[in-house]
Amino acid sequence: MAALKNNTFIRALLRQPVPYTPVWIMRQAGRYLPEYNATRKRAGSFLGLAKNPDFATEVTLQPLARFPLDAAILFSDILTVPDAMGLGLYFAEGEGPKFERPLRDETAIHALRVPEPRESLGYVLDAVKQIRGALGGSVPLIGFSGSPYTLACYMIEGGGSDDFRNIKSMLYARPDLLHHMLDINARAVIAYLNAQIEAGAQAVMVFDTWGGALSDAAYHQFSLEYLRRVISGLHREWNGEPVPSIVFTKGGGLWLEDIAAIGCNAVGLDWTVNIGAARRRIGNQAALQGNLDPAVLFSDPATIRAEAGKVLRDFGHGNGHVFNLGHGISQFTPPDHVGVLVDAVHDLSCAYH
Ligand code: CP3
Repeated sequence: MAALKNNTFIRALLRQPVPYTPVWIMRQAGRYLPEYNATRKRAGSFLGLAKNPDFATEVTLQPLARFPLDAAILFSDILTVPDAMGLGLYFAEGEGPKFERPLRDETAIHALRVPEPRESLGYVLDAVKQIRGALGGSVPLIGFSGSPYTLACYMIEGGGSDDFRNIKSMLYARPDLLHHMLDINARAVIAYLNAQIEAGAQAVMVFDTWGGALSDAAYHQFSLEYLRRVISGLHREWNGEPVPSIVFTKGGGLWLEDIAAIGCNAVGLDWTVNIGAARRRIGNQAALQGNLDPAVLFSDPATIRAEAGKVLRDFGHGNGHVFNLGHGISQFTPPDHVGVLVDAVHDLSCAYH
């Protein structure tokens, strides 16, 4: 495999020197881009996009054609794994993701099995291969998965939730059942991420979107412990190249040291923490990725540049920062503002390297 033309993202995750701070955007392929909406219309639906490697490749490349981003991320969704477990993923118009068969009773939970990625998630692996070919070594490709706990939230609630009533009831009343499910999810995530790496993913990110809604004790027992197992089970290199890992617990600012200690290469930060303070807490244990408030992109070019400058200044001189938003980009973001941000990061960060 030819060497990457731009490997700043991989180097920053490994805390190696880079000429500028690399940047990519969570959900960079998505509804804020008119060309995404056009392809989605042709595909008929979000799942029609995600399950067809040609469409998935097309939309993965769309933001890279517009902006000089330093990484591509596989176009897919975290909920493909529970779908492969037989829960029946669908998107109700205007309501977000839902499962036809959420897991509520003991029998269903005991019937849950780890899916074989090549059998039930082959379309994702085909997309990874096709995207790698289409990128031609320009920038690295990120693979991803949901965390065992975040997947369990959707699997038990049957969709999004404001209060996580079902999963939290189980967590307190039947911790044994939830642990059983999290063990299966962790094994499924390891198999899935390793299959993505074998297909060509050059870094992997685990999204723990809902871990931050747990109590301190519950976070450690039900989310972080399984993130630790996932990180321990991943290929650390493939074809002689290191494959760095990123763990992002949204709302996880209180636990950054603990997250860094599970052995991931980088910790994702939302916008509630100061990145300089986070760096001082974590020290040399891991790189950091984040942490601009996505709402900054609703402002104007001068403000976007100034706010990006603040994050860079707070991080300060030296290695180990991947610039990103603190969560996914909003569908209401003006696309040009993303270009302003990417240019500002490239421009202003040179002074720190
Ligand atoms: O970053 C990227 O560009 C890669 C693509 C990506 C998607 N989902 C595409 C998507 C990634 C990395 C995800 C991860 C994901 N999916 C997470 C974890 C990250 C996070 O945001 O916290 C979660 C919790 C999900 C579950 C999910 N999928 C939800 C809640 C929704 C509805 C979101 C919404 O804004 O309505 C989805 C659908 C989804 N996944 C869309 C996209 C582009 C929008 C679907 C559409 O086109 O209608």
